[in-house]
Amino acid sequence: MSLFICPVCRKELFEVDKSLKCVNGHSFDKSSAGDVFLLRTSKGIHGDSREMVRARHDFLERGFYAPLRDSLSRLAVECVGEGHVNYLDAGCGTGYYTEGVARALMERGETSVVGIDISKDAVKTSAKRLKTSELATASVYDLPIADNTIDIITNVFSPMAETEFARVMKSGSTLLYVVPASRHLYSMKSVLYENPYENEEGAVEYDGFKLMGSQPVDSSATLSGEELSSLFAMTPYFWTTSKDGAERLSALDSLKVEFSFIIYIYKRI
Ligand SMILES: C[S@@+](CC[C@H](N)C(=O)[O-])C[C@H]1O[C@@H](n2cnc3c(N)ncnc32)[C@H](O)[C@@H]1O
Ligand SMILES: [Zn+2]
Repeated sequence: MSLFICPVCRKELFEVDKSLKCVNGHSFDKSSAGDVFLLRTSKGIHGDSREMVRARHDFLERGFYAPLRDSLSRLAVECVGEGHVNYLDAGCGTGYYTEGVARALMERGETSVVGIDISKDAVKTSAKRLKTSELATASVYDLPIADNTIDIITNVFSPMAETEFARVMKSGSTLLYVVPASRHLYSMKSVLYENPYENEEGAVEYDGFKLMGSQPVDSSATLSGEELSSLFAMTPYFWTTSKDGAERLSALDSLKVEFSFIIYIYKRI
């Protein structure tokens, strides 16, 4: 049986001949990469474009965010109990963090892994690297997952859908929510903008959750011009930067950039 449920009638889904099917005859074909499309409507919503997915993949594979992946994986193992674990990466993107956390959880014990993202291109990239996990194109605001089934969620820079997360999470389960810290990418922003701003920081309380703590993850690296371009193309700044700002960045041969994140640890009450 799949951890996904039918997005139409909410019944369980079973794998039959490379499709997921429910008892009411709704059927969802798996792609050759193994992912499945479970969005009820794709009208008016879109996630990362193919170009952004490629830039994110290129940049992440160079390992600059490995400290975040390692901290997230360590925390995930510390937060789950013994026995079988159902793990969801909500807004999984290219699956970079999903893979690290899944590997750490599997080394600990039996684990089922599901990843969802609203970008079909991102989900396909995830499916290619996560052969034993279930991947679906779906929205965090309408998860194709039954109530009270998930032991741990990771959400890395993706939209926070606390009501849906609370619905699918078991009581006592964990949400690891990653956001950029105030100085994240500040030197790059200083090149792009005349008046760069720091990201706002501060923990938020969500209904149905208790904030247990937070962990900063900081590192820095000197990036080549090519690495800077990949980084720029995977950020929202790509869409909001003036031509002048973008040209200033592309003229650089290298730049020291700081990577600065906060992992918030929430327990489902
Ligand atoms: C900044 S990216 C982070 C991706 C991944 N967690 C990572 O850090 O590599 C944000 C992701 O959220 C996805 N996204 C945006 N809106 C979404 C929604 N409503 N439901 C699910 N995913 C969404 C985008 O497609 C994108 O892959
Ligand atoms: Zn159905």
